[in-house]
Amino acid sequence: MEMEQLVALCKRRGFLFQSSEIYGGLNGFWDYGPMGVELKRNIRDAWWHDMVTSHNELDISPGAPSTYEMTGLDCTIIMHPQVWKCSGHYDLFHDFMIDCRESKRRYRYDQVNGRWVEGKGKRAFVTTGAVSDEERQEDVQRKALKLFGLRAKHVDQLQWDGPMVSLTTLDDDFAEVLGPDAKTLGTLTEPREFNLMFKTYIGALGGEESVAFLRPETAQGIFVNFKNVLDSTRVKLPFGIAQVGKSFRNEITPRNFTFRSREFEQMEIEFFCHPDSSPDWYTYWRDRRYQWYLDLGLARERLQLRDHDPEELSHYSCGTADIEYAFPFMAAGEFGELEGIAHRGDFDLRSHMEGKLVRQGDELVVEEGEDGKPRHRGSGRDLQYYDDQTKERFTPHVIEPSAGADRATLAFLCEAYQEDEVPNEKGKLTKRVYMKFHPRLAPVKAAVFPLVRKDGMPEVAKEIYGQLKTQHNVFYDEKGAVGRRYRRQDEIGTPFCITVDGQTLTDGTVTIRDRDTLEQWRIKKEDCLAELTKRLTGG
Ligand code: GAP
Repeated sequence: MEMEQLVALCKRRGFLFQSSEIYGGLNGFWDYGPMGVELKRNIRDAWWHDMVTSHNELDISPGAPSTYEMTGLDCTIIMHPQVWKCSGHYDLFHDFMIDCRESKRRYRYDQVNGRWVEGKGKRAFVTTGAVSDEERQEDVQRKALKLFGLRAKHVDQLQWDGPMVSLTTLDDDFAEVLGPDAKTLGTLTEPREFNLMFKTYIGALGGEESVAFLRPETAQGIFVNFKNVLDSTRVKLPFGIAQVGKSFRNEITPRNFTFRSREFEQMEIEFFCHPDSSPDWYTYWRDRRYQWYLDLGLARERLQLRDHDPEELSHYSCGTADIEYAFPFMAAGEFGELEGIAHRGDFDLRSHMEGKLVRQGDELVVEEGEDGKPRHRGSGRDLQYYDDQTKERFTPHVIEPSAGADRATLAFLCEAYQEDEVPNEKGKLTKRVYMKFHPRLAPVKAAVFPLVRKDGMPEVAKEIYGQLKTQHNVFYDEKGAVGRRYRRQDEIGTPFCITVDGQTLTDGTVTIRDRDTLEQWRIKKEDCLAELTKRLTGG
C-alpha cells in the first residue's frame, strides 16, 4: 500500500483532515473526521477497558508476578511550572537545531546526513534531509554534481570519501558543508538548543512570572497525584494509575501524516511496585502491551518488540523496550515507535520530593546550582509508601507503558487497508478497497439496507436499525445501488451489512454479509441484534 492511497482514503471517507484546512492547514496538527473520531475512541476505549476496568485485581493475570490493582486519573494540561523543572523537561527536553543562512530553513541537527566528496580538485561534505538510504544517496550525488559543475555523465569523476554519516559526527566547523537546500558551502549555523514545550501565560499580566507550559506528556500528572490516589482510595502496592489525554510538543519536523504531530494523545500507565519485584513487572508489562496490539489485529511480521541497548537508556532507566511498527512510509526494514515501556526506577517520585536529579556515578543526586542549592527544588512532600504488613517504608519503583493514541490509530489504519477484486452487479471483476479493522475498532459495526426503497422494505430495515442502534454504532442507508452501498461500507471498514430484500417480506429473514469473506447468509430479522453482538464479541 502506498501512503498516498491511505491519506486519500482518510480524507475521502472522513477519517482524518488537515487542521484548519480551509486556511491552508497547520503543519503538525490533524483533525479526526466522523469516522476517525469513532476509530480513535474505540482504540482508547479498548485500551482503558483492557488495562483498567476489566482488570480483575483478585486473580493473578497470566504472566504477572502477583495480583495488582488498576485505577485512573484525568489531570489538567497546564500544571505548575515546577513540575517540568523537577521532571527534567525544562532543562533537557530539547532538540538541537541548525539554520541555513542561505535557504533560511531550519533542520534538526541529528536528521541531517551527508558524505565527503571530491570533484574537480575541490572537497565538500554534501548533506541531505532525505529519509531513506536510497533517496539520500541520490540526493547527495545530484547536489555534488551541481556543486562541482559536473554533468550527470561525469558522475565517475566524483570521489566519495567514506559512507553517509550524520552531520553530528563532524566538528562544529561547517565551512566545507553544503546545507540540504543550499547552493554554496558554509551556510549552516552552529547547532542551537530548542525546547519542545509549548509556552503559554497564565492570567492577564503575561510576564515571565506567569509562564506555564502545555504538558509534553501525561505521565507527570500521575506522579504528582500519587499521594492523592493513595490517600483517597484503598489501593495497595503493586498498582497502576492510567491516564489518557492530550500532549503537546513543538516538534521541529512534524512528518509522516499523524506519526509526528505537535498535538497528540497519549495513553499512559505509571505502575508502582516494590523495587525488588520491579524487573519482573517490567517484563510483564512489556509482553502484555506487545500482545495487546497483536490481539487487535496488527500483523506479527510488522510489529516488533525492541529492547534498548544499555547506551540508549535514559540516565535513570534500568530497562526500556519499544513496540515498533513497520509503517509504510518507512524504508524497508525500518520500524517506527508505537509505545515505549520503561523501567524508571524511583526517579520520578524522588524528583518531585527532592528536586531535579542528575546521575553521579551510580547514584541519582539532587542537581545543585552555582549557589550550592538545588537547581530545581522539589515539592518537599513525602511520596514514599508505607507497607503496613512488612512495616517497610520505601520509594516505589515505576514501570511506565507509554502509548500514543494517534500512532496506534495510524498503525491500525495502515494495517487495515486492503485491496482485492470482486464481481460487480454485472459480474465483472472490479477493484475493491476495504478496511479490515478488528470488529472492536471498526467505527461502524453494521449497516442496514433495504434492497429497494419500496414494498415495505425501508420500514422493516428501519425497525432492525432501531433495535441495533440501542447497543451498537450502526448506519442506515437506502440511497443508490446496493452494490455501491456495500463498497462505501467496505471503505470505512464496517464488518457486517444487513439487507432487507423481497424474501424478508415472505419468510422474515434478512441477509447478513461479511466484509472480509463477502460470504452472505440468512438469519431471522428478530435475531439481528443477538447475531451482531455475538459476531462482534467473537462469541
Ligand atoms: N512519558 C513517556 C513518554 O512520553 P515518549 O516516548 O516521549 O515517552 C510516548 O512518548 C508515546 O507517545 C510514543 O511512543 C508515541 O506513541 C507518542 N508520541 C510521542 N511523541 C509524539 C508525536 N510528536 N506525535 C504523535 N505521537 C507521539
